[in-house]
Amino acid sequence: MSERLRLYIARHRQPLELALETHLPLSAQSHAGRLNDALRYAVFPGGKRWRPMLTMLGAELVGARAKDAIPVACAMEFLHTSSLIFDDLPAMDDADTRRGHLTLHRAFGESIALLAGLTLLNCSYGLLAETARAQGNCESAAWLVSEATRCIGSDGMIGGQAVDLALQGAGQGPDVLVSRNLKTTALMRLTMCAGAVACGGDEDDAAVLAEFGEALGMAYQICDDLLDELAASDVLGKPAKQDARHARSNYVAELGVEGAHRLAASLIEEGQAALRDRFGAQPQVELLSDAVQMILQGSGHLALAAA
Ligand code: IPE
Ligand code: IPE
Ligand code: MG
Ligand code: MG
Ligand code: MG
Repeated sequence: MSERLRLYIARHRQPLELALETHLPLSAQSHAGRLNDALRYAVFPGGKRWRPMLTMLGAELVGARAKDAIPVACAMEFLHTSSLIFDDLPAMDDADTRRGHLTLHRAFGESIALLAGLTLLNCSYGLLAETARAQGNCESAAWLVSEATRCIGSDGMIGGQAVDLALQGAGQGPDVLVSRNLKTTALMRLTMCAGAVACGGDEDDAAVLAEFGEALGMAYQICDDLLDELAASDVLGKPAKQDARHARSNYVAELGVEGAHRLAASLIEEGQAALRDRFGAQPQVELLSDAVQMILQGSGHLALAAA
């Protein structure tokens, strides 16, 4: 990791963790203790926390302070965590481990896992709107909620998950793979532009950040698929070879290890070029560039070893 990115993460990690605790949507109901335990278990200690960092960087690119975007950053982490809780359920990927621990449904049972996932999803909409309002951007509050609805919905993350479940076996064309990857691209699009829009970014800023987010999301899912194929479960903190177990095709199955890695690298290059065109040589452009290179390298060295 570059020194500047390490410093950025070190500076923002603690305020982020504190804000995640503050905004965690715990129930005040006296018999809802198990839901609260499940919410804490799902969010802490958490995973890599890339998304909230990316959201804060997006906000800083339009001149905001990272701390003003922290509630939106929490919303993105809650939303992402809810998608993982649902993704791991027996009816979906049927995974036993996540982030190095038992999955939420294995630790707490399916009913509480469902309710915890819904609680995190639900509160993310509220946090988006409240942050925009707190920054004096009331019009953005409505835009953000409707954009979140679209990115999460049946032509966004949920649609991508449905395609993922529906399609079995290899030989899938490029359009199908794009549609399947909506599970990740749509949320990454929102992750990149939500902080900026809540903190006063304009339409053109949002469009470029959304474009970068989609490219990064596509590359992120390709890297995740590479890791699924090439890494060990104990390194991943979740079961390896899940796509093969479910006979689900992806870019690695269709293009091979090298081809998939090349595609991820070229998507990231295009995304970075769009970012540079709009935001120039701001330090946040460089930090985002370091972050995406790190994401790529995570699977890259395994791809090289497999070549
Ligand atoms: C895993 O995301 C699921 C995908 C969208 C590929 P991450 O690898 O970012 O998960 P955490 O948050 O670090 O656990
Ligand atoms: C999950 O994709 C994407 C979402 C949760 C929306 P995967 O099923 O590949 O994620 P992992 O590998 O279980 O983390
Ligand atoms: Mg899945
Ligand atoms: Mg999964
Ligand atoms: Mg995966």
